[in-house]
Amino acid sequence: MLRLYIWKTGRVVVPLTEIGKLGRKRIGEPPLDNGLIPYVGCALQFGANPLEFLRTNKRKYGHIFTCKLMGKYVHFITNPFSYNTVMRHGKYFDWKKFNFAVSAKAFGHRSIDPSDGNTTENVHETFTKTLQGDALNSLTEAMMENLQYVLRPPVLSKTNSDSWVTEGMYSFCYRVMFEAGYLTLFGKDLTRQEAQRTFILNNLNNFKQFDKIFPALVAGIPIHMFKNAHNAREKLAEALKHENLQKRDNISELITTRMFLNDTLSTFDDKEKAKTHLALLWAAQANTLPATFWCLFHTIRYNNIIGAKRRKLIFSTGAGVMFHFCSLSLFSPSNIYYSIIKEALRLSSASLNIRAAKEDFTLHLEEGSYNIRKDDIVALYPQLLHLDPEIYPDPLVFKYDRFLNENGKPKTSFYCNGIKLKYYYMPFGSGLTLCPGRLFAVHEMKQFLILMFSYFEMQLIDSQVKCPPLDQSRVGLGILPPTNDIDFKYKLKH
Ligand code: HEM
Repeated sequence: MLRLYIWKTGRVVVPLTEIGKLGRKRIGEPPLDNGLIPYVGCALQFGANPLEFLRTNKRKYGHIFTCKLMGKYVHFITNPFSYNTVMRHGKYFDWKKFNFAVSAKAFGHRSIDPSDGNTTENVHETFTKTLQGDALNSLTEAMMENLQYVLRPPVLSKTNSDSWVTEGMYSFCYRVMFEAGYLTLFGKDLTRQEAQRTFILNNLNNFKQFDKIFPALVAGIPIHMFKNAHNAREKLAEALKHENLQKRDNISELITTRMFLNDTLSTFDDKEKAKTHLALLWAAQANTLPATFWCLFHTIRYNNIIGAKRRKLIFSTGAGVMFHFCSLSLFSPSNIYYSIIKEALRLSSASLNIRAAKEDFTLHLEEGSYNIRKDDIVALYPQLLHLDPEIYPDPLVFKYDRFLNENGKPKTSFYCNGIKLKYYYMPFGSGLTLCPGRLFAVHEMKQFLILMFSYFEMQLIDSQVKCPPLDQSRVGLGILPPTNDIDFKYKLKH
């Protein structure tokens, strides 16, 4: 029983242990875990190890349960067979509200939700138009050119082609993909070729500093609390102002569409538009940089492991990369890359798919019907399914061919308890919040791998190195980086 203590003054005092229980007991709602601390709720336990916390609650409460997290009631749906049903309740959810609010807070622009009156642009449509279809071809071509530009010169100048260069693999992937990605989105300044690299490296350092505090910004801490990161964000945005972008050539359609159409973003001044460009830079890089590391790391490490068994995964030729399997020579390189990238993302992704309820409604799932209140959040945590041994046997092991069928073609049938799953793979989100850059992301990682194996011989410094743990501080944001870097050495092939 909830006990209230009433002072003589008439003020209501609630014992700490009882506060969390106030006002949340209604019939037909999912079981509730209030946590121990008022307002904070379960946020600390969730933050410490989300996967374990959700698995424990699933065992305790069943497939759907509610957790109080920083004052919000979050209903977790953990049965992958219910994901489809959640998507079908789309009309009850506001999928934009949370994203738009986070973007405005983190990047410092006003709301880009057309219903707030600052812009007429449906940014979601713009993203799809400028990241897919014909636009995807130009992006991919530009990325290939830029990757080649970035990869060759530093190595050629650092070393004669016979000597090895040692570097942290994560720093290497971060540097190369950031530079090539920046040039692909925002073009090259052809008038200042020599200063180009210094300019990008300055941006990279600012990006790192800003990105480091991103989880805190999402949690609602104002950027003014982080002086250096705030400065870094302002410098990044300054470089993306119209007057500076005008000097650059070959800017992607994604950015030009937002720069030159005057009826879109019309109440935004140049500085604010630059901040929306920065939001795109973040979306394009924050996940791709760690994902690229995991693709390269797992592939090289896997090569080491199977090397002993005489089954080398990758050899390259001057004409491009060719996969050579002693026993699987029919597999096409393209499909193997597809599987490697999918598998690396499955192991490192920890995104949170969030939808806010627009009104009170009843969510009808396989396991029953549940009342959801307006402003509550319905959340899917795909890591639960990515690491489910029923769906992916030996879920923590990297298997390069996990997403290939016996005949080497992409595998799209995955099962849980013998029943085929519609949703089994979600590093790029789901439904209306599905990442519009996902096709480009896979292309650019594939290009990176192809070029790396074409240009370089590579070796891990410690050939027995263990897989580094995932940095849990970024859970919810997407692909988690490693907690520590892994040294490797590379040298140009002849
Ligand atoms: C491995 C790489 C990537 C991963 C894992 C990834 C993942 C995601 C996820 C999970 C979301 C949805 C977030 C949510 O639920 O609200 C998202 C949104 C988005 N992503 Fe990606 N992404 C990647 C690469 C990219 C790239 C390369 C681009 C652009 C060039 C991009 C552009 C976007 C944009 C613009 C959105 C927001 C869409 C909207 O709000 O309508 N992403 N991404």
